[in-house]
Amino acid sequence: MKRHTCIPAALLALVAIAATTACSTPAPPPKPSLFVRLGGMAGVTAVVDDFVSKVSADPRSKRTFEGVNLARLKASVVSHVCALSGGPCKYEGDAMALAHRGMAITSDELSVMGHYVDQALQRQGVAREDREELERMLDKLGPEVLNK
Ligand code: HEM
Repeated sequence: MKRHTCIPAALLALVAIAATTACSTPAPPPKPSLFVRLGGMAGVTAVVDDFVSKVSADPRSKRTFEGVNLARLKASVVSHVCALSGGPCKYEGDAMALAHRGMAITSDELSVMGHYVDQALQRQGVAREDREELERMLDKLGPEVLNK
């Protein structure tokens, strides 16, 4: 009698296991980091090189770059963007408020830079949602850059 009551339970368990195995789809692979989606070190370097060259030459935004060592600045911004986007870098420069202290950067100058960042990302073939993800991260730093 005891054996009879156990059989349906065992059968049920088997059916449950079979159903779970048959219906479960493999978990999707984890999304690569934004750093990878930006093209890794080569992509980030190309993007930074592009937008820093543009923003430091545009008459609307070039004033703060006078006398600045652009090669050193680009290397520091690469490391910053790399760390920000989940890459393997450790940013060792100044925090954003300190780095831009005394420059009195305006929101117009910030917008000029934002425009060149987007253009550089597009030229590098970065997908729209990935561009927007980085731009949201940079937007969050706006108040620090403006020292507001
Ligand atoms: C979210 C926006 C911005 C980010 C994430 C950013 C990031 C950086 C970083 C990482 C540095 C290097 C700091 C260091 O090495 O200690 C830097 C320096 C600098 N930034 Fe920005 N920046 C932003 C906006 C701007 C804007 C809008 C301007 C001007 C239009 C600007 C002008 C400069 C200049 C001139 C330096 C060099 C300072 C020096 O070496 O004396 N930045 N920025």
